[in-house]
Amino acid sequence: MAPETPGTETQALSNLLQESRRFAPPADLASSANVTSAAYDEAAADRLGFWERAADRLTWAKRWDTTLEWNPPFAKWFTGGQLNIAYNCVDRHVEAGRGDKVAYHWEGEPEGDSRTLTYADLQREVNKTANALTELGVGKGDRVAIYMPMIPELPIAMLACARIGAVHSVVFGGFSATALKSRIDDADAKLVITADGGYRRGAPSALKPTVDEAVAECPQIEHVLVVRRTNQEISTYDRDVFWADIVERQSDQHTAEPHEAEDPLFILYTSGTTGKPKGILHTSGGYLTQTSWTHHAVFDLKPETDIYWCTADIGWVTGHSYIVYGPLANGATSVIYEGTPDTPHRGRFWEIVQKYKVTILYTAPTAIRTFMKWGDDIPAKFDMSSLRILGSVGEPINPEAYVWYREHIGASRTPVVDTWWQTETGAIMISPLPGVTSAKPGAAMTPLPGIVADVVDDQGHSVPNGGGGYLAIREPWPSMLRTIWGDDQRYIDTYWSRFEGMYFAGDGAKRDEDGDIWLLGRVDDVMLVSGHNISTTEVESALVSHPKVAEAAVVGATDPVTGQAIVSFVILRGTAEEGADIATELRNHVAKTLGPIAKPRQILVVPELPKTRSGKIMRRLLRDVAENRSVGDVTTLADSTVMNLIAEKLPSAKSED
Ligand code: WT7
Repeated sequence: MAPETPGTETQALSNLLQESRRFAPPADLASSANVTSAAYDEAAADRLGFWERAADRLTWAKRWDTTLEWNPPFAKWFTGGQLNIAYNCVDRHVEAGRGDKVAYHWEGEPEGDSRTLTYADLQREVNKTANALTELGVGKGDRVAIYMPMIPELPIAMLACARIGAVHSVVFGGFSATALKSRIDDADAKLVITADGGYRRGAPSALKPTVDEAVAECPQIEHVLVVRRTNQEISTYDRDVFWADIVERQSDQHTAEPHEAEDPLFILYTSGTTGKPKGILHTSGGYLTQTSWTHHAVFDLKPETDIYWCTADIGWVTGHSYIVYGPLANGATSVIYEGTPDTPHRGRFWEIVQKYKVTILYTAPTAIRTFMKWGDDIPAKFDMSSLRILGSVGEPINPEAYVWYREHIGASRTPVVDTWWQTETGAIMISPLPGVTSAKPGAAMTPLPGIVADVVDDQGHSVPNGGGGYLAIREPWPSMLRTIWGDDQRYIDTYWSRFEGMYFAGDGAKRDEDGDIWLLGRVDDVMLVSGHNISTTEVESALVSHPKVAEAAVVGATDPVTGQAIVSFVILRGTAEEGADIATELRNHVAKTLGPIAKPRQILVVPELPKTRSGKIMRRLLRDVAENRSVGDVTTLADSTVMNLIAEKLPSAKSED
């Protein structure tokens, strides 16, 4: 039977998965951790005082007057304070005598193509670029669209904007001309910074033609600044300016003027579930305070000795906060990798870990499950003894994927921090602390010090331990979005209208018997089976806990008997054979793990799953398949051929009972 608590009829989300494994912090890590359990008490006693101390880790040109001005749902942090974000990320480290320290080890996709930038190098490059932007007529408050591959000029361009107070809007290099154009228009950008192309899967992949197509219909764009990366042939227009022509001849001196703490730093578009992309607006002082503090706390970053690698694309918020702003503010040495994990071979990530002796690795569950699928023998070939902390972000990490990550990448030594946050939150909100928390595989555990998160029911009341519901944030936090660019009403409607006085994250969550928080997927994906709200995450995790399964996606399909029935799509591990009765075996496994209520009606073994370009499973498309509809809009899929592969595997959507 599914475990039941009194009053389950009304519970927002069932709590089915039980997990008893715990991993305590290694003793040496605990004894030398940057942040100890005292931080929770300090923040609980005086939350604003806690964030003031975090803000004091930055260098302010003028200290703030007011820590928080809260006119719900509009927050202003550190008002009256002035700082320069680029100065904090670059110059202050040089001034402190750390100019020769490496800021970025950049690894291009073509093997042997690498560059090293010290903080002094970065300072010169950012200054030259800031001077070039000024020459191109970009000033404080102007918006700059950035559409680039993962090359050093990308963080340099972002920092140059920050330095002069221009607002960057990075658009992920995989987006179409239409997507780029709508983002340029929405933000009314006047400059686009791009490259001829970048390397992906062993070949140059063009970017400039997409920009040309988008900009053809954007009269407000005055110039397109182009970096030569691949030297592929491109068309040029009067408005085009080459990086080598304008940036290289600039002075490498530039005075960083202070900006207001609440001056906009960037806009980043997030698609959400439906409709027009939302331009999430982040500002300066609070954003840098929380990104740098969380990077220091959650990754226990020791700038002198750690080599830190976040594998995300800078085009997503993970890259903004944990490749660019957080790590640089902390004076970290980071790795940036341009390409894909399977080029030229499936051990590329582990080769990079070995080459740079990476100590902290931050990646996504989708990547981890892909590595599981490829097989344990691949990482086993590399020396990864330098690793000491592993991080996960982007989706719920299934307990089995967590354990695999810890064991096969972390040699069963390293803590894994499952970090929950969003483009909107700007920085990590819920996560274990690696030197403090005895973490459970699959749980994001507890809100960080200074963050007041809760799991609430339909009425917005906290659920008791053992209960499921919705994730909500009860108090403002420094790196929160300030609004949706140009649309305050949509900001109010999307995030602050579901529950009175609380931020609604759109994620299902549960609080386990110990009070620890588990994320259960997007609320829109929850399945209603025989009157029970069942999370996709729990059923997927039960499937992934079967030794033959590498990855799973489940959806609720209309069912005459149960309302919705669970239909599962699974990818088998590299070593597993697709036996005749694998479906029965897996259905029984789920029933045994979670209870009969969660038993899938149907299991389909597929070669791939439909994913967005940031690696999230697009369950909407799988629902179309499960309900025998023609598949909806696939334009945001990373690989649009995947749905054909899945359709080929479809026997019919009949019940297997
Ligand atoms: C959504 C936000 C945060 C940077 C990358 C994604 C999901 C993110 C976790 C996690 C469970 C997670 C949530 C969230 N998510 N991290 N550790 N456990 N779910 O940013 O594209 O704005 O997506 O990603 O559903 O709401 P994003």
